[in-house]
Amino acid sequence: MTDYTIEFVGTGETITCSDKETILSRCLEEGIAQEYSCRVGMCLACSAEIVEGEVTQPAARGLTEEEAESYALTCMARPQSDLKLDRGEYPPSIESELEAGGAGETAAADD
Ligand code: FES
Repeated sequence: MTDYTIEFVGTGETITCSDKETILSRCLEEGIAQEYSCRVGMCLACSAEIVEGEVTQPAARGLTEEEAESYALTCMARPQSDLKLDRGEYPPSIESELEAGGAGETAAADD
């Protein structure tokens, strides 16, 4: 097991995360307000742009192969190096859905 440092750009938050843990689970343990919903790699709510470093995320089914090179689904992603991540940045596929109003269902799930 190897521990890596993850820095969240723009917030100054820094955590350590092993290559066996998901980034989201460590964020929740450390009290970092990382958004999430499905926790199974489908909804993209937990997306973060990879500014620097590498992750492994074979179960990130919501991302295309190309998107997975630049974005991490933190509920699935495990670090493979020290990282700089920009939380709340979404891949183009969901950005276009948001602009078209097609992805509003998950955000409007008030009970
Ligand atoms: S919480 Fe849905 S993809 Fe991560």
